[in-house]
Amino acid sequence: MRVVTAWETALGPADHLALSALLRAAFPGPEFAPDRSWPASWARKQARIWLAGDGGTPVAHLGLDRRLVGTPAGEVLVAGIGDVAVAPGHQGTGLGAELMRALDAALRDGPFAADFGFVQCREAVAGFYARTGWTRVTNPTRHVGVRDGRTVVEGQEPTLVRPGRRSLAEWPDGLIDLRGLPW
Ligand SMILES: CC(C)(COP(=O)(O)OP(=O)(O)OC[C@H]1O[C@@H](n2cnc3c(N)ncnc32)[C@H](O)[C@@H]1OP(=O)(O)O)[C@@H](O)C(=O)NCCC(=O)NCCS
Repeated sequence: MRVVTAWETALGPADHLALSALLRAAFPGPEFAPDRSWPASWARKQARIWLAGDGGTPVAHLGLDRRLVGTPAGEVLVAGIGDVAVAPGHQGTGLGAELMRALDAALRDGPFAADFGFVQCREAVAGFYARTGWTRVTNPTRHVGVRDGRTVVEGQEPTLVRPGRRSLAEWPDGLIDLRGLPW
């Protein structure tokens, strides 16, 4: 598999079509459209990392958005991760884990580096993240709700972090204010 790392602004129409096909297969529903490879309701990402298979077809993908979030210990630069998907025909073959190894390299060095990776997910996939280098944390979070894009919501959702430029021991306690839409 070839690892592709790209700024959102560098993607062309053919990239969006190919990534959208992968994302719509993994996330059936209205979040992605054929020519729109980003979700309608969630935060727009700054960059993508994907694994390209035969002929360059994307088979595993994540979006990444760096943001200074608020914590009781001060601001922390996180790379919010979302739109994590492996093509249905390839699921269960280790590509999700390979994608996370590619993320590690990006988090530590280069233009996408951040103090921590940050992801929130459904309980049904928290086990996948826990198996691929993420550590579950108990911080409550505050963010703009995806339902209407304006109401601020606070809650305790499955949240996992992974080290980037800082060690896990430095992850703060307390409320994490995402200061915008979640990823
Ligand atoms: C979740 C998803 C990305 C996992 O990708 P994958 O390529 O199938 O995962 P891998 O084969 O690399 O599995 C890595 C490890 O996670 C485990 N795992 C995978 N999915 C899991 C799940 N839903 N729950 C618990 N563990 C899981 C695997 O058993 C494997 O464990 P091992 O190291 O003990 O062998 C993929 O199933 C997917 O795209 N699902 C649909 C979209 C989705 O829900 N994305 C997440 C949104 S937050």
